[in-house]
Amino acid sequence: MNYSCIIGTGGYLPERCVSNKELEQWVNTNDQWIIERTGILNRHLAAEGQDLCDLAEIAARRALDTARCQVQQIDLIVLGTTTPDRVHPSTACLLQARLGNHGAMAFDIQAVCSGFIYALSIADQFIKTGVIQTALVVGADIYSRLVDWTDRNTCILFGDGAGAVVLEARQEPGILSSHLHADGAYKDVLTVSGTVAQGRLQGDGFTKMQGNEVFKFAVKVLTEVVEEALVANHLNINDIDWLVPHQANLRIITATAKKLGLPMEKVVITLAEQGNTSAASIPLALDIAIRDGRIQRGHKLLLEAVGSGFTWGSILVKY
Ligand code: UT7
Repeated sequence: MNYSCIIGTGGYLPERCVSNKELEQWVNTNDQWIIERTGILNRHLAAEGQDLCDLAEIAARRALDTARCQVQQIDLIVLGTTTPDRVHPSTACLLQARLGNHGAMAFDIQAVCSGFIYALSIADQFIKTGVIQTALVVGADIYSRLVDWTDRNTCILFGDGAGAVVLEARQEPGILSSHLHADGAYKDVLTVSGTVAQGRLQGDGFTKMQGNEVFKFAVKVLTEVVEEALVANHLNINDIDWLVPHQANLRIITATAKKLGLPMEKVVITLAEQGNTSAASIPLALDIAIRDGRIQRGHKLLLEAVGSGFTWGSILVKY
């Protein structure tokens, strides 16, 4: 039996850090409100001229270095993003060219904030079934470019970043399960409804969000999808060493942990310093908690995310 093992992780946040205080200059908001309602203190924004591929390349090279993996060993590059550099080719192909890999499969996944969970699960299917040995899985977004910085309902939440993991086929676990879901009936609750056609943007290029609806839905499905993973693996919540949630809002994370009966000491939280980085949030959180020693080999990790679509999912990993 093949399992996909995480053999390296990497992350990157752009240099420019914007505090809540700085945001007070741009929109009618305040530091205290943002902290109380979201738990966010700072977010990092990509510089003008910095592409998504620039962010993804740094995260990917860091993951490949930790994994001691050569670029030519990669059989698959799958990249979760909502903010690709081009309509086509995919940012996965752009990244492949930057890294100097030739011939691996490469494609993007568009599941917004669940993009990394979807990408990791897809890579896992290829490894489990013996089709490939090694995969580079990236979650990266420059979400700040889809945000209207005069709209206080959305702009306070988001930041830019990239995270990556290298997966390798092993006989020992590994990824134990993944559960992915979507319901397009919620397509208008959180959306960027515009598109590119006839050489220009058609429609609205900014994020529109019914925050309260997203909040309620997120807590409900994240609890359900974690329980689904536990049942499928004959585990209970006490068997989990770390919940690594999508970093959207501290109140969503704490409400979910409470419903699951999971103490907050077992939850990886990184959003205070980076905000919601969309598809990058889980691989960034993973990378931080592995590098600072919280996550140790043998620990059971439950990754979970929800995003526009709605899309949602969980992945159980024995690290
Ligand atoms: O990956 C998924 C991405 N999206 C999310 O995760 C979003 C999930 N939802 C949320 O995180 C929360 O709903 C928000 C943080 C967006 C909003 O928090 P809330 O507790 O749901 O606030 P609210 O929208 O109910 O607004 C409460 C009050 C309102 O004032 P009144 O009507 O009570 O006088 C708002 O006008 O807060 C006001 N408000 C603000 N005040 C200062 C809304 N946004 C702001 C702001 N600064 N940025």
